[in-house]
Amino acid sequence: MTNKIRKAVFPAAGLGTRFLPATKASPKEMLPLVDKPLIQYSVEEAVNSGIESILIVTGREKSPIENHFDISFELEHILREKGKTEMFDQVRAIANIARISYTRQQQALGLGHAILQAKDFAENEAFAVLLADDVVDAEKPALRQMIEVYEKYNAPVIATMQVEGEAISRFGVIDADEVEPDVFKIKDMVEKPSFEDAPSDLAIIGRYILTPDIFDEIENTEKGAGGEIQITDAMRNLLKKRDFYAVKLQGTRHDAGDKLGFLIATVEFALKRHDLGEDFRKYLKSLEL
Ligand code: G1P
Repeated sequence: MTNKIRKAVFPAAGLGTRFLPATKASPKEMLPLVDKPLIQYSVEEAVNSGIESILIVTGREKSPIENHFDISFELEHILREKGKTEMFDQVRAIANIARISYTRQQQALGLGHAILQAKDFAENEAFAVLLADDVVDAEKPALRQMIEVYEKYNAPVIATMQVEGEAISRFGVIDADEVEPDVFKIKDMVEKPSFEDAPSDLAIIGRYILTPDIFDEIENTEKGAGGEIQITDAMRNLLKKRDFYAVKLQGTRHDAGDKLGFLIATVEFALKRHDLGEDFRKYLKSLEL
């Protein structure tokens, strides 16, 4: 069994109810930050972290994701004919980004259930899970940071960040001891606790490195918060049998699946663009706020 993290799973079957009406007939994973769909940011993160093979767990209405990572025959033909080489290269590169396969989660029964759909794909290897609406803007790719912790401790790793106040109840929350700067050994975890019951201010964010023993736990996990099969509950059960670590990521995490978070991420990414940043900054400064 290889110890290398080569595979990544992208749960993308969710209904995107936080972003209606845009997500009524279009996948939330295809919402663009400036000009690139959310899911492409995290696929690029995975590839830049050493991932070779990707499984996207989709559902009905999600075919634009498959089309995005496929060859676009007509578009490529026209771009080539018109001599738009740069655009052609850009479009073709997306189709060659990684080995991507797809499976369907037929019912939106929760994140744990979505990850369970990757059981055959993972075979007997540890694997990564990335939630595309958590976009992490970081110099060293977020998943790479986690893989380094996985390789050191040889145990599952989840990403965490500090969340102030009541907002903590929108997350999975860990109770943990810091074992080295920004690395924690987890003692307990709970999905979407009330503010009063939250064991700490350390929220789980949408990056995980899991081991294949998680699948048996998911299969034995009852519905939890929101009536869904939660990955946090399955990890909590597995925590009784093996160690889990968490890493506070270097970088900025955006919740791009939320309307305000999406707007903030859009502004941040636009300001960083060489082709747009300067004009956009000028425009923002001209606003009389
Ligand atoms: C999921 C997880 C939760 C985690 C969050 C991070 O929740 O269940 O533990 O804190 O992602 O974005 P969701 O946002 O899908 O409700």
